[in-house]
Amino acid sequence: MNILHASSEVFPYSKTGGLADATAALAKSQAAAGHAVTLVTPLYRVIRENFDDLKPLGRAQMLANVWSLEPEPNLTVLFIDEPEWFDRKSLYSHIDDAERFIFFSKCVARLARHAEIVHAHDWQSGLIMPLLADETIGKVFTIHNAAYQGCFPADKFELTGLPKSFFDWRQLEFHGGVNFLKGGIVFADLVTTVSPRYARELLLEEYGCGLEGVFQSRVGTLTGVLNGVDYNEWNTTDNPHLAAAYSADSLDGKHLNKLALQREFGLPELADVPLFGNISRFTDQKGIDILLGALEQLLSRSLIFQFTGLGSGDSLLEQSMSSLAKRYPKQVAVKIGYDTGLAHRIEAGSDFYLMPSRFEPCGLNQLYSLRYGSVPIVRATGGLDDSVIDLGHGEDMATGIKFGDCSVTALGQALGQAQELFADRERLAKVRDNGMRTDFSWTRTTAEYEKLYAKIKKPTA
Ligand code: ADP
Ligand code: GLC
Repeated sequence: MNILHASSEVFPYSKTGGLADATAALAKSQAAAGHAVTLVTPLYRVIRENFDDLKPLGRAQMLANVWSLEPEPNLTVLFIDEPEWFDRKSLYSHIDDAERFIFFSKCVARLARHAEIVHAHDWQSGLIMPLLADETIGKVFTIHNAAYQGCFPADKFELTGLPKSFFDWRQLEFHGGVNFLKGGIVFADLVTTVSPRYARELLLEEYGCGLEGVFQSRVGTLTGVLNGVDYNEWNTTDNPHLAAAYSADSLDGKHLNKLALQREFGLPELADVPLFGNISRFTDQKGIDILLGALEQLLSRSLIFQFTGLGSGDSLLEQSMSSLAKRYPKQVAVKIGYDTGLAHRIEAGSDFYLMPSRFEPCGLNQLYSLRYGSVPIVRATGGLDDSVIDLGHGEDMATGIKFGDCSVTALGQALGQAQELFADRERLAKVRDNGMRTDFSWTRTTAEYEKLYAKIKKPTA
């Protein structure tokens, strides 16, 4: 099939979160399966600065210059080049985001005309669906996070060039303004999200972020397809970021990574103390406030453990994390910032990986931590619930620890279970081994998308 993806971030060119990993890996996996795949994304400043082998594709019929790369056989990445919109330090949160992503969507819609399937991701690419309303192309829209919707004042609608009739409460209008995510949901032939449980959650007021009614109206096409892991990027056997290689069959290197991580963070180098890790965007979604509360509780009870964290975002959460690390320098170490190498080292060096998310469409870090032998402790929501098997299922099956309530108490209890598990070496080894051997490769996800695409592919004339 001739597939065109549109994503506002793609690893390794640009990334603020899992969207970049997921779209890059899905496109790569589809190309490896023999499809002709094009991935379109903006040419941000960070890409200009780091990739000097981009090839010009010209301005044919376009509003912008387009540059291309062919990182894998069957895969072309196209970069939409318009310095006025994209030559900026950060990817998002600019005052003119509406203009920027209307422009991007229009460019993609032009490029998409020869594709059989156009697959757009998240609000930044939502408008591609209505822009292609009259084209005989199979249209797929994937929601990686319904909390970000691209809501703008009504006067921005005119810039889309869409028929006025589309500015209607059944289509793009939302509380008097225009909602790009809603446009994607309403006009796609098929709406998907990144885990089966999140697909069910989106129908509920608690998780639908005001769009639950819209999701309910499309329930017949709303499907949850769990993301995968690109094990070429996220592996413990051939990884330049790690202190030592290891695998489920040979775990010695895991201990060396733990000692190296403790050293890197200036924590006492102790093998026998449970080490918890977390890597996050600091937002309400990730439950960092709960994490802080639970750590504080354990520390006040003088429990012996260590914590290493990496993240950035909300400045109050950044300050609280830093201040906890200052007060307990032998137990808590935090780096505020963004650091891919350190993200790998935390996964490899920690014994447990914490993800107390309020909601989590899929979550990739728990999937990475499973392979890295860092037992995930997760709240049972979205993709976290779909990908981790709780201790309660017995050590022959369990891969992690789950808790239900989004509260300090519930996370505290889960941390207590982790302490007990750590003390029982044999049981810990079994649970860790189960996780390390679980396969979340993209092959399964790719096959699921193939089936879905086949349902909506339009017959060629
Ligand atoms: P989300 O997309 O909601 O942030 P995911 O778990 O799907 O959550 O993906 C997060 C991705 O971003 C992972 O690859 C993770 O390692 C990476 N990441 C998040 N914060 C940082 C950070 N501060 N430094 C390096 N990588 C980070
Ligand atoms: C979003 C979600 C995250 C998901 C990622 C990739 O950023 O917050 O749960 O893993 O997209 O689909």
